[in-house]
Amino acid sequence: MQTSHVLVIGGAGFVGSHLVARLAGVATASATPLEPGSVTEPPIDPERIVAATRDAEHAQHLLLLPRVEVLELDVRNDADLNAAVGSLGTDGIVVNLVGILHGERAEPYGAAFAAAHVDLPRRLVDACRSTGVRRLLHMSALGADSAGPSMYLRSKGDGERVVRESALDWTIFRPSVIFGPDDHFLNLFAHMQQIAPVVPLACAQARFQPVYVQDVAQAFVNAMATPATIGHAYDLAGPQVYTLEALVRYAGQASGHPRPVLHLPDALARLQAAVLEHMPGTPVMTRDNLDSMRLDNVMQGPLAPELGLRQPVSLEAAMTDVLAGRGHESQMQTLRRSVYR
Ligand SMILES: NC(=O)c1ccc[n+]([C@@H]2O[C@H](COP(=O)([O-])OP(=O)(O)OC[C@H]3O[C@@H](n4cnc5c(N)ncnc54)[C@H](OP(=O)(O)O)[C@@H]3O)[C@@H](O)[C@H]2O)c1
Repeated sequence: MQTSHVLVIGGAGFVGSHLVARLAGVATASATPLEPGSVTEPPIDPERIVAATRDAEHAQHLLLLPRVEVLELDVRNDADLNAAVGSLGTDGIVVNLVGILHGERAEPYGAAFAAAHVDLPRRLVDACRSTGVRRLLHMSALGADSAGPSMYLRSKGDGERVVRESALDWTIFRPSVIFGPDDHFLNLFAHMQQIAPVVPLACAQARFQPVYVQDVAQAFVNAMATPATIGHAYDLAGPQVYTLEALVRYAGQASGHPRPVLHLPDALARLQAAVLEHMPGTPVMTRDNLDSMRLDNVMQGPLAPELGLRQPVSLEAAMTDVLAGRGHESQMQTLRRSVYR
């Protein structure tokens, strides 16, 4: 299906990079041949794909993709946001992938969560309204709920509400944790086991249903071509449920460094997270992450058939060889290597 222009905000991130490549008709894959059925031809063929980022340096790996433009965009600036959305024309499609995992603590959430998860969707909705763009695909998260147990889930829930009440042609996606060759999740567990003799683990029995990044990207492109997805919010998850401990053990085994897992009691886990929050750089774990894990991150029921994901890819099929060979490539190199050209 021919559509004109697509703007992907957060297009240089993990999901964004795979989505942009998919829209450009370029498949990204793990080193392992995948089960058939998940990755299909993109059903839409945009003339122009705009990957918006706050810093063009983040998007170097997208520059060679056909029909892809990298746009350095300050999303806090309404005029710039309006210009980016307005440049699509009224049959354009906006995708919002912006999300953060960490922010200062407040009730119901701090300013960083408010800005990224609630204010930006609100201003994007306003930009769509004022420029006449109707189609908005918005990334939320499984368990997002204004009354949820964490700032992440509450702010994602409020962001969803903004989109649902927008009267635009919206579709919302609510994935469980997302895996892929360049993820920040299984690769982190593998890395931890390369450098530490033991893994102290909070919420070891929390349950997740991880979904493959290409299946997520495919759900987005299929939704763009499927009007029946308008006005719906879709949970996204993979074929199997795992405990956090099982995921950590799998990453250790697959990367060749299986380490003993030490279950941390709740009080110690909170203390550890509070300390990690005050370390320099991006925290590995925060008290808010622990709060999110109070709820299982598992889907009720099957994937919606209109998303066209006939056979979601399993963790083992996509990741075992990737984790076995990790440590040799940066994220950009991994993505470059996995792009079929
Ligand atoms: N990965 C998962 O397991 C998972 C699971 C459920 C839901 N999600 C949701 O999926 C979306 C994409 O996740 P991802 O894993 O691709 O994350 P990611 O790699 O961190 O990408 C998100 C992008 O959002 C942009 N961004 C971050 N903070 C921003 C801010 N304050 N203002 C403007 N832009 C900002 C960043 O782009 P630039 O730095 O290039 O500007 C970043 O690359 C997020 O909404 C996330 O909450 C992810």
